[in-house]
Amino acid sequence: MKNSYRFTLAASALVIAFSAIAADKYPQLGPLPPPPLPKDNPDTPEKVALGKMLFWDCRLSGDFSMPCVSCHLPALGGGDGGQISRGYPGTKHWRNSQTVLNSAYYNKLFWEGSVTSLEQQAPAAAGGGVAGNGDDSVMEMRLRFLPEYVAEFKKVFGTEWPRVNDAWRAIAAFQRTLNSDAKKVPLDRYAMGDKKARNASQHKGMARYNGKAGCIQCHNGPLASNQKFYATGVPVHPNFKEDPIGQVTHRWELYQKGVPEDKYRNGNDDHGLYYITKNPKDIGKWRVPSLRELKYTAPYMHNGMLATLADVVDFYDKGGGEAQNKTPLLKPLKLTAQEKKDLVAFLEALSMDEPLVMDDPKLPGDYQPLPVPVMAVK
Ligand code: HEC
Ligand code: HEC
Repeated sequence: MKNSYRFTLAASALVIAFSAIAADKYPQLGPLPPPPLPKDNPDTPEKVALGKMLFWDCRLSGDFSMPCVSCHLPALGGGDGGQISRGYPGTKHWRNSQTVLNSAYYNKLFWEGSVTSLEQQAPAAAGGGVAGNGDDSVMEMRLRFLPEYVAEFKKVFGTEWPRVNDAWRAIAAFQRTLNSDAKKVPLDRYAMGDKKARNASQHKGMARYNGKAGCIQCHNGPLASNQKFYATGVPVHPNFKEDPIGQVTHRWELYQKGVPEDKYRNGNDDHGLYYITKNPKDIGKWRVPSLRELKYTAPYMHNGMLATLADVVDFYDKGGGEAQNKTPLLKPLKLTAQEKKDLVAFLEALSMDEPLVMDDPKLPGDYQPLPVPVMAVK
């Protein structure tokens, strides 16, 4: 498996070196099909509505200050707008908050692909030391003390009392409804036959995307991600060296992820996929993210080091950055200023005309612990 993967990489590198990129050998961009639904967590409108409440509810975090929505704001495309995500009070996070939009389509979640389902992802977020930092049994007890939740969980899951694992299942079901609506995405409208949905610049941008710029090699298919892992050499975030609380987070994460002693002692960059495989050849590799909804989710990359889409295109134009395992698929592109603009215009047309905003759900108010911090973040 590993060998054949490497062989494909080497073979595609040769193809690029000696000929133009054969865009038609990659799955094309286009409207997303309905997301895959797991058999063991069928969704119902009631489950989705409960999941939405829980996504907003600060009781599913340690000190009530970190509901999911506080780092995944609808108006910010489901991300939080920061370079790296805010962390649990007293900590700093170490990664950029990913958008939750279209997360139903990935087979591996998080920048390093550490979990394989939304049902597993939610407890990792609500319990993670630098994110929600909640204790499962405490969070469960909080739900059990609210008559509205007792009734809702009973209706949806048939249990006498809310179970925290069912809370994660409801949140997962809700997230599977947060998808780009093809009717609102210019490029999807174009693919569905509306020839006016794409302007001349976006048209040329698509040709660069599929051709000279080679983005299609990794960002392909309706999700604009092949879901594989590569090192592209995004620069290190300065917090690794300069910020004491940032350093504490980094060391703690390395410790949690069980890296060998020397990597822990000398940890000065985020190693991505390596934490999962512990294979030195995976140092610096990240899951290819979707390119949908980018208009709303700046800044970019696992550590938010690239502020704008123009910066991203410049980064690729230079052939990416430096990394020990850097992919041979990235080479200097020699794009003209106009070609770069066209590419940015094309990327923007992969976002909905407006962000997917929605009304806040009404939460049970029997006891209102603290003001919901979402208000403060805005
Ligand atoms: C402290 C801010 C914060 C909170 C609170 C938070 N998240 Fe996140 N979320 C992030 C960050 C940062 C990442 C990327 C982390 C990584 O890759 O290590 C992320 C990643 C994700 C992803 C993966 C998306 C992808 O493309 O793989 C999903 C889904 C998600 N969060 C859902 C949730 C849910 C559900 C909750 C509440 C239970 C939640 N988040 C709470 C910051 C947060
Ligand atoms: C070799 C595979 C590969 C190619 C080719 C490639 N990318 Fe990427 N792209 C990635 C990976 C991996 C990441 C995540 C890197 C990270 O976070 O450090 C990424 C991240 C991005 C992001 C950030 C998305 C976000 O949500 O933060 C954008 C935008 C992007 N790429 C656009 C492009 C464009 C435009 C091109 C063509 C000029 C391109 N990519 C070519 C693999 C690739």
